[in-house]
Amino acid sequence: MRFVKSFRRSRLQKQRQAPYVWGNIRFVSKNAAQTKEYSALNPFSLLTRTELPPEYRVLIDKFPRAEWGAVHTIGMLGQFWLDRHDGFRQFSAVLDEATDKALEGQVQPGEFAQWFAPRLNHFLGALNGHHQIEDYQYFPLFMAADGRLKGGFELLEEDHHLIHDMLARNASAANDFIRALQSETGEDPRKALEQYALEAKGLLKGLERHLEDEEDLILPLLMEQGEDKFGHY
Ligand SMILES: [Fe+2]
Ligand SMILES: [Fe+2]
Repeated sequence: MRFVKSFRRSRLQKQRQAPYVWGNIRFVSKNAAQTKEYSALNPFSLLTRTELPPEYRVLIDKFPRAEWGAVHTIGMLGQFWLDRHDGFRQFSAVLDEATDKALEGQVQPGEFAQWFAPRLNHFLGALNGHHQIEDYQYFPLFMAADGRLKGGFELLEEDHHLIHDMLARNASAANDFIRALQSETGEDPRKALEQYALEAKGLLKGLERHLEDEEDLILPLLMEQGEDKFGHY
């Protein structure tokens, strides 16, 4: 019994010393270059566009953001979507700030790893879950509700694939950093931290674009057609 307890304790201590980021994920592309190559074929890819393509702006031009909540009411479903996205934005900002502090040496790498691994796990998992609900539950309903926006929702689905690639590379770079920290061969974790920061910043930039464009498609559609027919999130 004492052996089991001490075994468990040592395993827990090991886990505490060795945070691991998001193991249950498969890569779509193997590296950032492949994602870029893929994006170069599409001028409206997540990595290149600055807003929704004009043909999918029919409703956002009719229901501009400046009028949301003032002239046009935001219902519970729309508000939930905005809140969920704002949560991702806030989480991204906190992770980004902490990464910058680690890069600048204001936080020790080991301390940073202990702090960021569980938070990054939570962030990546929540984002992945949110995309699945959109892809499988809501986007088919939205596409059927207004055929003019179908291509816009397909573009957002493509974004999800690209973001999934970036999530996977983020997790991989985070684990490389954690491994470098634990390495007994004198490997400099700084290089791995810089690579992680590069992947993380790419993900956050792509995510910002995606969240805004998605809101520009979904919120006006809910305002025009009413929320009741789409159910609850
Ligand atoms: Fe999305
Ligand atoms: Fe979303």
